[in-house]
Amino acid sequence: MKPYRLHIFVCQGKRCAAKGSEELLDTLKDRIKREEIKDVKVSKSGCMKVCKETETEGEYSPAVVIYPEGIWYRKVTVADLDDIIEKHVKKGEVVERLLHYRMVK
Ligand code: FES
Repeated sequence: MKPYRLHIFVCQGKRCAAKGSEELLDTLKDRIKREEIKDVKVSKSGCMKVCKETETEGEYSPAVVIYPEGIWYRKVTVADLDDIIEKHVKKGEVVERLLHYRMVK
């Protein structure tokens, strides 16, 4: 098996779950499988604390993180998966309107 090119984590912590992250994870996994994108791994994660960065807990939920670039997205919906797949996954372009932050290299 070849190594993965990207690893995408979709937060399943309670605040992200309350904003639809379970459907987001399932839909992303389905899309990656359906489009036969074999070099991308999708996993769930626990709370990444993005949900606690404002006084209104969950304001930035759901959170999605993509490695190795270290790109953190916030407020990701199922509708946003088109851009994440077409731009980020297929072309390596960051979806700026969803960007929470980039990890320091
Ligand atoms: S529950 Fe998802 S970042 Fe906290």
